[in-house]
Amino acid sequence: MKNPLSSYGRHFIEEDDLDAVRSALMGDFLTGGSRVDQFEKDLAGVTRSRHALTCANGTAGLHMACHALGVTRGTTAIVPSITFLATANAAIMMGADVVFTDVNPSTALMEPHHLEDAIKRCPSKPAVVMPVHIGGQVCDMKRISDIARANDIKIIEDACHALGTQYRDRDQTRYVGDGTYSDATMLSFHPVKNITTGEGGAITTPDDQIMDRLRGLRSHGMVRDPARFLNRDMGFTAGEPNPWYYEMPDYGYNYRLTDIQAALGISQLKKLPRFQAHREKIRKAYEKHLAPFAPHIRPVPRVPGCDPLWHLMTVLIDFEALGTTRAQVMKELSTKGIGTQVHYIPVHQQPFYQKNFPQPSLPGTDAYYRQTLTLPLHVHLEETHVEQAVQTLAGILSL
Ligand SMILES: Cc1ncc(COP(=O)(O)O)c(C=O)c1O
Repeated sequence: MKNPLSSYGRHFIEEDDLDAVRSALMGDFLTGGSRVDQFEKDLAGVTRSRHALTCANGTAGLHMACHALGVTRGTTAIVPSITFLATANAAIMMGADVVFTDVNPSTALMEPHHLEDAIKRCPSKPAVVMPVHIGGQVCDMKRISDIARANDIKIIEDACHALGTQYRDRDQTRYVGDGTYSDATMLSFHPVKNITTGEGGAITTPDDQIMDRLRGLRSHGMVRDPARFLNRDMGFTAGEPNPWYYEMPDYGYNYRLTDIQAALGISQLKKLPRFQAHREKIRKAYEKHLAPFAPHIRPVPRVPGCDPLWHLMTVLIDFEALGTTRAQVMKELSTKGIGTQVHYIPVHQQPFYQKNFPQPSLPGTDAYYRQTLTLPLHVHLEETHVEQAVQTLAGILSL
């Protein structure tokens, strides 16, 4: 890579990843083959989940999870406003209403009291809450799930940033995706994410019935198990299932991952512990080099008890107090070869949501959005890059 600082996030591909993809391309199945099954087994192992189902991307997975969990017209999905568009859009695809929660102004995470407030504002029956583990750190899932269960609300964890994150829960270690506190957990393998398959995603769930339903939804709603055929006359001849026959009890999608992508995923997943250690090292380097510039530049604080796989290196800066603007700082960083990003524009302020689902003011969201800036964090970076990025930023801010 010419300049690893030019982008806030980036995939990390090595020779063995290329070998894995080459061998998939030369195999018998480019899709629907055993590499998909293997990747799903490996994902279930890493996340300690009962089931993992791969899919075309994180957005497709959130859509299927909403479908499988009964998010329909006349119900509400509860979503934090600081997230990528996909979390809320998945509920819109099912025709549901969306209510946005506020977030903690420093961590950008939905907190239990934000959920309680959002439940009171739902225009229709709340069907699902989708906490987002932003940047790789986890929401307080125990308390969020206590509130959701008490209100008969299903839970989809949006862990598109958090594959590989662990956390302490009283005296236990939990793994993001293990299903302790949710019905389904969504992972994404987009190139900026913790591992990549190009596009791609996976849903984990502890529930056999939900997995069955998701499996059908991934492939047009088709069922091939004769025990589940409804049209017995069409499905059987002389008591034996017809070899060509399949049935569609509900509609579905084509949201499958290919074997080419799964081959890359299998290879990338083996590197997850190495990626986690490297990203932690880079996060620590940022903490060290940013320390002299506190409180003007503050890294998003560590959530106690969480051992994240750091997806983002987000800092909070009071641009106004420093007599500048974020736009100006980003432009100057860019001319000096440093790529930054904002995660995220509050989704409730997108024109579509303002028009269709107007929300009250969300002060934590506003405060976080005003100050947030994401600096480069990925496996190509070393401490010297971090030092360069921090010194350049501090110079631009005249610190
Ligand atoms: C929090 C969050 N949710 C959902 C998604 C959607 O994932 P994908 O890009 O794989 O569709 C993303 C991806 O950017 C994300 O960051």
